[in-house]
Amino acid sequence: MQAKAREVYVPPVLQDLRAGTAELHIALEKRLPFFSDALDTQAFVQLMQAYYGFYLPLESALLRSAAIPADFDLPPRLKAPTLRTDLHALGVSAEALQGLPQCEQLPVIDSSAACLGVLYVLEGATLGGQILRREISARLGLEADNGAAFLDIYGAATGRRWRDFIEYLGNRPISADERTAVVTAAQTTFSCFERWLESREVLA
Ligand code: HEM
Repeated sequence: MQAKAREVYVPPVLQDLRAGTAELHIALEKRLPFFSDALDTQAFVQLMQAYYGFYLPLESALLRSAAIPADFDLPPRLKAPTLRTDLHALGVSAEALQGLPQCEQLPVIDSSAACLGVLYVLEGATLGGQILRREISARLGLEADNGAAFLDIYGAATGRRWRDFIEYLGNRPISADERTAVVTAAQTTFSCFERWLESREVLA
């Protein structure tokens, strides 16, 4: 489902990203269990633990990377801390959190272009979160204050923060090779995430 948030201008790099990841998005969306009748709170906790095991090492890699553009403000966009708070609220102890498996097959982050491709996926996922938030509230009674803050991580600012990201992306001078590298990193992020979730046995 890739209906578009209100945007004034779609930069070429975003056109390429959409063309290059639409199928991967659809495939993953179909396998995620958010709308499954079998999804109970226990299965949701498993799913969010698996998300945490991907977001934490990937965001740490972005934070560590020398390739992250100097003018990109990453800390306010980090999502693992919110996942951690959600998991606490859902009854996962600090000790259990420490021991959770973390994904080791991550996208390679060796250039600014690669960083931006990864970030496109992580930021774009906040858009779908708006739909998932309503579903999980209705299905499990979980909201931002009792275990589902991740799904509404930017709250009312979701659209604005997406447009800010797209504007940032569109304003960067970017060569054809870099554009390819952005798309490759986004594709790899989708496929690494899907493979990881599959290995954690949380996909349909
Ligand atoms: C069942 C789960 C999901 C649903 C229902 C869903 C739904 C959506 C929807 C409706 C949009 C467009 C929103 C808008 O333009 O206002 C969107 C965009 C997007 N989603 Fe998802 N999504 C899901 C999971 C994911 C996951 C797990 C990821 C990646 C980790 C992801 C990455 C993206 C990206 C990158 C975009 C931006 C596409 C663009 O406009 O360029 N989504 N999603």
